[in-house]
Amino acid sequence: MTTSEQQRIGKPGTGTSTDDPAAAEAVFLDATLRLLAPLGVARGDVVVDVGPGAGTATVVLAHAVGEHGRVYAVDLDPTMLDTTLDTARKAGVSNRIRPVLHDVEDGVPPLPEAADAVWSSWCVHHARDWDAAARALIGMLRPGGVLCLAEGGLPTRCLPWDIGIGRPGLEIRLDEAHDRHFAQWFFGRPGAKRPGGGWEDILVRAGLADVAAFTELVDIPAPLSDEVRAVVLAELMARVRRAGPFLTSDDAAVWARLLDPDDEAWLGRRGDLTLLTARTGWRGRKPDA
Ligand SMILES: C[S@@+](CC[C@H](N)C(=O)[O-])C[C@H]1O[C@@H](n2cnc3c(N)ncnc32)[C@H](O)[C@@H]1O
Repeated sequence: MTTSEQQRIGKPGTGTSTDDPAAAEAVFLDATLRLLAPLGVARGDVVVDVGPGAGTATVVLAHAVGEHGRVYAVDLDPTMLDTTLDTARKAGVSNRIRPVLHDVEDGVPPLPEAADAVWSSWCVHHARDWDAAARALIGMLRPGGVLCLAEGGLPTRCLPWDIGIGRPGLEIRLDEAHDRHFAQWFFGRPGAKRPGGGWEDILVRAGLADVAAFTELVDIPAPLSDEVRAVVLAELMARVRRAGPFLTSDDAAVWARLLDPDDEAWLGRRGDLTLLTARTGWRGRKPDA
């Protein structure tokens, strides 16, 4: 068993949804670029990407810091760090990336320098204690440094309300079942702490100043390209698998048909799939000392 496999077993649910995180990150790239723009990264900056996934945003940040800047990629999963370095190598910027194997639940990552900016997208909600994880992120910043945290937003809509089989509202019920799965997974871990509020409160409590939220729309209408359709199907498959124990048997049977390429109801054949969602980011500044 590899270290990565051991870590996955030790920390289930902390990774990416599908086997091809790079494909998913490509679909959300426009929204990601808008969400990380308020970091205001400049040439020569020291930046941290916490939970880089396949490294798409890490590469964007590496281009922004230029040849004299550095981007620390912090992740608990060595496979993700390898993938990030690979993505950076293909983009010709791997010499600006410093991989750091670290779990933000263990506190501030041991970096050799303070950061001008910290970016983290779809990572911190995996932590058992969101307050402690927020303190770890802010702890990497120099006084005056900026944090952008992308978390939350709106549920994704891919299917019409009535797909013609089963009871209408199938995707809404999937959201509900998936939320129950997440709560069971989240609170099933020893030490899991109820957040008790929104991200803005959490960031302010952790010491961030001038915290403001902004939300970016992701609106890809039908007909979807093959690339986007593949991501939508993979994400739905992952959500249905996780939510399975909380779906009614009727809904589970409909999803089984929709996700079966050999069934005439397979979603891959439909022309009316969309990808509509919204992603929220929070920007704030570490107060001057
Ligand atoms: C869902 S992916 C997000 C990838 C990318 N940032 C994005 O927005 O698409 C979550 C990433 O956070 C990492 N991660 C999850 N929990 C973590 C923790 N406690 N400490 C460090 N990295 C963590 C995972 O290994 C993975 O790379």
